Amino acid sequence: MPDALDEKAIEILKDNDRGGYTVPTAGLYPYQWNWDSAFVALGFATFDRDRAWREIETLFDAQWTDGFLPHIVFRVDDPSYFPGPSVWRTGKSPETSGITQPPVAASITRWMWESADHDEARVAALYPKLLAWHRWFHRYRDPLNKGLVLCTHPWESGRDNSPEWDEPANAVDTTKVEPYQRRDLALIDHDMRPSTDDYDRYIAILQSGRDNDWEHAAIAKNGPFRVFDIGMTMILLRANRDLLRLAEFFGTSDECDELSSRIKLTEESVDYLWDEESRAFCSRDAITGKSSSMVTSASFLSFYAGVGTPSQKEHLLENFDRISKRVRYMLPSHDPDHDKFNSILYWRGPVWAIVNTMVALGLAEAGLEKAAARIYGDTRKLIEKTGFYEAYCPITGEGTGGADFSWTAAMWLHLAKAGGQPQSMKGAA
Ligand code: DGY
Repeated sequence: MPDALDEKAIEILKDNDRGGYTVPTAGLYPYQWNWDSAFVALGFATFDRDRAWREIETLFDAQWTDGFLPHIVFRVDDPSYFPGPSVWRTGKSPETSGITQPPVAASITRWMWESADHDEARVAALYPKLLAWHRWFHRYRDPLNKGLVLCTHPWESGRDNSPEWDEPANAVDTTKVEPYQRRDLALIDHDMRPSTDDYDRYIAILQSGRDNDWEHAAIAKNGPFRVFDIGMTMILLRANRDLLRLAEFFGTSDECDELSSRIKLTEESVDYLWDEESRAFCSRDAITGKSSSMVTSASFLSFYAGVGTPSQKEHLLENFDRISKRVRYMLPSHDPDHDKFNSILYWRGPVWAIVNTMVALGLAEAGLEKAAARIYGDTRKLIEKTGFYEAYCPITGEGTGGADFSWTAAMWLHLAKAGGQPQSMKGAA
């Protein structure tokens, strides 16, 4: 059984390969996505390291001169996706979107580098590009200078329709949204995709970025949606730690000092995103100052980021235990006890293999082997039961969203074959 799944996972990556970059899934997402590509590289690394590095290298080919790394790279114009390059109009070559995505690339570069004793030249070439991207975050997305990261579009968080964004996005003026036609609903059941209201807000925020000529300083100051994203903040903290490791080999001592002080700043400030009501780390609206008070799968990324006091960790584990009794498969993207939980609706309930990989790694590193094993084991069971879906219902295990999904295939291969890497799922049930 596992061998057949290994073969199927490799086949999915090869089928979704468009020549140097991989689409997340055929049809629904026909371009190169930022954090998808980084995770996909981990899958390729289990059978073709050259191709794995290419995935990250082609992503960085689209980096802007100020270090910004876009969330989509549009190498072909595919009318089956909305919103395509003619809507974003960033004027770049290759054409790209104007927002970014969670910065997992430095972590994945480090893990790939450390899992083999070669590839130095490729890592050395990537290192300054990764550093430039992280500096971009600190320059444009850290308005409080606390190392807490601002998201300026729900799509940037990667957790597009998380209930965490409902209230901040509800305040966005949608009266000037230009007529548009969604393409995703022709391919996927509406029950599993963001609502029409969500899309109106996505497009209103996109138009506002475009009206600001994609000037990131202006967007971070006046954009209609500005939220300190707990997911992005924890992922960047982890990525800064991993980048520091690369800097020790490929960078200067000044760069090491710079990264160390960034890490310290976030460690010292992260309590700003602790929510006493839900006893978890939560996102906070930067415009109103209000916490979402929602426990999501991103709340548990604090373990992956290596932060949290003993008492915060205890409260998070209480939440973890409570949630684990409410679902069959961990880790749901939203709290099953919350009224906005929906087991099949994208980021409002379904389980995502990439989040599971990061959270389980963090739990294992914190010595919480039992919790980590539950997540690793459930990830395996979901894939064995249902195949390589975009996400899964945490109650029934049914697949949700796109099928033959690249990053799920990549996580399977990584899980099955990546012995010795820090994110290894060795010991999974
Ligand atoms: C989509 O089109 O649903 C994507 O998640 C946007 O990045």
